[in-house]
Amino acid sequence: MKKLIFQLLIVAIVLSCSEKDQIIYLDETDLSKMEIGWGENQANQSVEGNPITIAGEHFERGVGTHAISKMMIALHGTAEKFEAYAGVDDESGDRASVEFFVMGDKMILWQSGIMKKGDKAKKISIPLEDIQKLGLYISNGGDNINYDHADWADAKIHYKGEKPLALSPPVQKTYTLTPPTPPEPRINYPWVTGASPGKPFLFRIPVTGEKPVHISVEHLPAGLKFDQEKRIIHGTTPPKGEYVVNVTAENKFGKDVKRITIKSGHGLALTPPMGWNSWNCWGLSVDQEKVKAAADALVSSGLADHGWTYINIDDGWEAEQRTENRELLANEKFPDMKALADHIHDYGLKLGIYSSPGPYTCGGYLGSHEHEKQDAETWADWGIDYLKYDWCSYNDIAADRSLPELKKPYIFMDKILKDVDRDIVYSLCQYGMGDVWTWGEEVGGNLWRTTGDITDTWSSMSRIGFSQDKCSPYAGPGHWNDPDMLVVGQLGWGPDLHKTRLTPDEQYTHISLWSLLSAPLLLGCDLTQLDDFTLNLLTNDEVIAVNQAPLGDQAIKVKDENGKQVWAKKLVDGTLAVGLFYTGTDDPVEAMWWEDEMPASNVKISWEELGIEGSHKIRDLWRQKTIPGNFTEGLEAQVPYHGVILVRLLPME
Ligand code: GLA
Repeated sequence: MKKLIFQLLIVAIVLSCSEKDQIIYLDETDLSKMEIGWGENQANQSVEGNPITIAGEHFERGVGTHAISKMMIALHGTAEKFEAYAGVDDESGDRASVEFFVMGDKMILWQSGIMKKGDKAKKISIPLEDIQKLGLYISNGGDNINYDHADWADAKIHYKGEKPLALSPPVQKTYTLTPPTPPEPRINYPWVTGASPGKPFLFRIPVTGEKPVHISVEHLPAGLKFDQEKRIIHGTTPPKGEYVVNVTAENKFGKDVKRITIKSGHGLALTPPMGWNSWNCWGLSVDQEKVKAAADALVSSGLADHGWTYINIDDGWEAEQRTENRELLANEKFPDMKALADHIHDYGLKLGIYSSPGPYTCGGYLGSHEHEKQDAETWADWGIDYLKYDWCSYNDIAADRSLPELKKPYIFMDKILKDVDRDIVYSLCQYGMGDVWTWGEEVGGNLWRTTGDITDTWSSMSRIGFSQDKCSPYAGPGHWNDPDMLVVGQLGWGPDLHKTRLTPDEQYTHISLWSLLSAPLLLGCDLTQLDDFTLNLLTNDEVIAVNQAPLGDQAIKVKDENGKQVWAKKLVDGTLAVGLFYTGTDDPVEAMWWEDEMPASNVKISWEELGIEGSHKIRDLWRQKTIPGNFTEGLEAQVPYHGVILVRLLPME
């Protein structure tokens, strides 16, 4: 009997222990599962690594994040309550505005209202009985995510029984749309290229089709030669003028003929630059081997045959000190820049570099301040074809943010670049200050960043991409708006890479939108690790044709209704490229509740809204299929959540 009582006692103790009140702090959960709009989530620190502070109040614990932020936690119905203090971190800028939502099983349990910097932290204490899933969501407060550093301070869940568990965002299955590249030869874009009289000329003709493909070029101007084996036109750019050359590509399956126009003395980058940049994958860990590997992979993967050309080194190549002659050479990670340039040029590809008009780059390396001419000459000597010139520490040099001060360092470098013995495409990077799109061309820029840095989340990519309407009037051949580099494939901003966090539909949106926007297409991924999906995404010549259309128009937003957007871009022959997008609504439950497959939506546009008339054929560009029928009034399609239908409208005679 005594033994039985003892055993019962033990069972009672165990039971009471398992039912004991327990606490899990949000900072103890797996924060890699929390989606974030900028930076990395931080345990017990703000997103920038400072002590969590809201309106002067300091919190020991909590999670520092950045709008738009989402986290889903499985509660198994065993949670009792969620407690936290919510607010904008004091480290953020004055324009911060966010709204916090606590959701349980598709219901909003608590919402903060719009919160700004300096607002006292709001206390949250919400019962969670019987709730299965807790959603923590921070919106951009209805504007954009700039400066939206937000904290869930001292956040904890009280539970009894099974421990709450952070859930991974759902993974959408990949699906490929681009049909396989046909065996017949195809001469791909660009069909126009610019160079300056008397300077070195290099152009790789992008041709696909089963090898061997015989390529011939007729009517080359004096000074230029064609290397059949390498598919490269090279030599010295002829005098100012337009030279139309006939290119023929032939193999046992067929033949393609195209006219490619060499424009001498009409500027550079006559179509948006396409290629690769080291930043979004390697960050400051870039080195010569990685750049060489990127160039090799651009060719071996076939991307170069679809027009991808530039290999751009971003920050991190610079030596620690200038030489005695005040030259800025490369650091030990780049033992031979000239040999690297030769290797890249041998493929007919082009090499880019990065610097700052300030004394230091954003990554803390030496910039070109007070050595602009010398640096440009060094680059020309190495064989550099492209410069990304990043404002960074010029902040400390500029007297203020007036337009003359914003323009000054860019005008200065432009003159120097024009004087060197090479064509160097000039990319301004100053994150859109002073509406750079309105004067970027005037200061000599071939392209200019219109926004802050992109990251591989839907909120970052879509916020940047869908806000480019204001810049549309300023794009054209030789001068492009740059909404930042592509975030598909394997990325990382440092040595460790991860697969893009964009879903396949979001990636179709990204490439379609950047193509409609006539944006530079600069891949930010490790090209040696391209999976089939990414390669398929980047080799659709009908989509690339929208980006490389010689007219150089940038799409405008024709419609924006309740998460449905339509953008249209004029192509050279009077036809329109039209993107139907479904971005989802701002409803926090919809934004957050991804446990079910998100529904597609019907998006419509009429010819009247597009400003066109008459019968049209419709070509689905991703699928490369003409949709049966003649369309006389408009178009409507089921568009996936965060996805796109990209078409070309061809007027019937
Ligand atoms: C800035 C730019 C980025 C990258 C880094 C390099 O943040 O916007 O694109 O060039 O500097 O430090």
